[in-house]
Amino acid sequence: MTQIPEQTGPDAQPDAPGLEVLEEPCAERGPFFRERVVVRAPGKVNLSLGVGAIDERGYHQLATVFHAVGLYETVTATRAADLRLDLTSHVQGKVPLDGSNLAMRAAELLRETHGVTDGAHLHIDKEVPVAGGMGGGSADAAAALVALNRLWGLGIAPDELRRLGARLGADVPFAMLGHTALGRGNGGDLSSVLTSGDWHWVLAVPGGHLSTPVVFRRADELLLEHGRTVPAVPEPDAVQLQALRSGDVHLLGQTLHNDLQAAAFSLHDGLEPVIAHAERHGAWGALVSGSGPTIAVLAQDAEHAAELRDELLASGLVLECHLAQGSVPGARVVEEA
Ligand code: C5P
Repeated sequence: MTQIPEQTGPDAQPDAPGLEVLEEPCAERGPFFRERVVVRAPGKVNLSLGVGAIDERGYHQLATVFHAVGLYETVTATRAADLRLDLTSHVQGKVPLDGSNLAMRAAELLRETHGVTDGAHLHIDKEVPVAGGMGGGSADAAAALVALNRLWGLGIAPDELRRLGARLGADVPFAMLGHTALGRGNGGDLSSVLTSGDWHWVLAVPGGHLSTPVVFRRADELLLEHGRTVPAVPEPDAVQLQALRSGDVHLLGQTLHNDLQAAAFSLHDGLEPVIAHAERHGAWGALVSGSGPTIAVLAQDAEHAAELRDELLASGLVLECHLAQGSVPGARVVEEA
């Protein structure tokens, strides 16, 4: 068995001009078959989410800053005759184990596109809140693609694997890359963002479920109701990119924003009180993560994050609270045999 050390890599990239074409994070080591591969992929929060017009596929143009945080989906792929999935979860909520699961769809996609007839047993160890806007399902898909690429000895290059991932969901390519990245187009056109420092987050789960397409639709309805239009292609938040580059956590807190937030508020009345409570207790900022309902709260430091978690749990406004640091690497092989 080979233990592969965590590839943390410095978040700060001194030579990068702020945004740059990404380095490939998970170079292949040759088309060798494995018996068992374990891959860990992170959840994400969107530090900003600008939503523009809808394209012909019904997808919105986005300008979003993805930020990978240290809550992980760990997928273990083991050789088997058939394809099956089971799960251990550390969070509340139901996850489908049938063909609709994104990890299973990732496996089917690899089999179809690469003529694989082998099977695999996939086990997911889940830490990312379910259906919470933190990309847990996307992390499962990303981890499954990376794991099966090695298990089945396919030797697919990382950029091609990311393109396959984009067919499964807009957030899958970022779950492979990790760290902090600007997402344009439908969210899958990624460029790395220069950051310095780590940030301490409280991920507060208020309960309930919000469907991503329903939240996008509601956001469109709200625009119509208010007679507002959006740019065809939204612009990235230059001030937020500057806050990330300089490591100014206070400024970062002020720039957190999400164009889906009003829609999420109108569909779930338990979100706004969580944000207000966190801000009253000294958070630098708080926002709905992605399409929600998880709330990402930016704490002042690790100690403050733990205090905020205790405050939020005591308030009765949330079902679960998780502490996590960002940013962290994307899908990585952590063990193989
Ligand atoms: O790609 P993903 O499965 O994450 O997207 C779920 C749904 O969210 C899409 O079917 C679409 O309705 C909506 N969406 C969107 N614009 C995006 C990403 C997602 O409208 N850029």
